Amino acid sequence: MKLVRTRQELTEIVTQWHKNGETIGLVPTMGSLHEGHLTLVRALDGKATRRIVTIFVNPIQFNNPDDFQLYPRGLEADEALLAETGLVDVLYAPDETQIYPPGFCTRITVSGLDKVLCGGDRPGHFDGVATIVTKLFMQTRADIAAFGEKDFQQLCIIRKMVTDLDLPVTILPVPTVREADNLARSSRNRRLTPAQRQQAAHLPQALISCLEALKAGQAVTPTLELCVRTLKEAGFTVHYLDLRSEKTLTPAEKADAGTRLFVAASLGDIRLIDNMPVA
Ligand code: PAJ
Repeated sequence: MKLVRTRQELTEIVTQWHKNGETIGLVPTMGSLHEGHLTLVRALDGKATRRIVTIFVNPIQFNNPDDFQLYPRGLEADEALLAETGLVDVLYAPDETQIYPPGFCTRITVSGLDKVLCGGDRPGHFDGVATIVTKLFMQTRADIAAFGEKDFQQLCIIRKMVTDLDLPVTILPVPTVREADNLARSSRNRRLTPAQRQQAAHLPQALISCLEALKAGQAVTPTLELCVRTLKEAGFTVHYLDLRSEKTLTPAEKADAGTRLFVAASLGDIRLIDNMPVA
């Protein structure tokens, strides 16, 4: 695995690969890697002849400067984890000058989908995501790119953007990887204190109970309200808990196949998100 720090070096490598008829698989990340990210890398096995992982903590998708500063970082440990998989050809870890040179002023907006769920209290977040992901698609010239269902809204937005802009890349969705107590793996989990880590297990548990009640035919609104109360009692600040269509992210009145529960809740200043399908 080669560590590449500049756009120019990356361009030379991917141009040669394309000349040789290779297909390029991409896993974009912000580093602080865990089993969820590694599962994305493995999902590309057999689907691309070359694989690139990118690590870039993208400043324009953070609407809170503290959150950007506090985002966990550790390139050496990440590099070791990726090398161990034996599946990665290039780790691209550019600094900001390679991505946003002075005067950079373009943004990509996926209208509508960016306003619901996490878009409500994170204005501009998804523009930042859509913009960096497009840049990474262009810089790596990826043929296929893997994204986790853990960030389901992000996945929807990227798919829509790829369709709307005719981007020549296939999107590969990957199911959420969880800890033994069902907490979704996340780089942010590292910031939880041991007590908060225990509390955090209530989040997937509440979703599972809520799904069971919905599947048993309970009405949607009171079931969601009960779940919010349970989470508040467990010490969470709940930003939203919604049942929505997986395709359009519009609110669903019935818990049918093709609908999904979405939650964002904080413990202290650590915001956790999760989602689970009804069927
Ligand atoms: P990051 O949070 O590092 O996540 C990188 C990729 O890993 C995303 O596609 C995310 O959905 C996936 N992922 C994270 N935790 C996962 C889990 N527990 N199970 C399965 N997949 C998981 O998402 C971002 O970075 C950024 O917004 C990015 C797309 C890189 C743009 O900056």
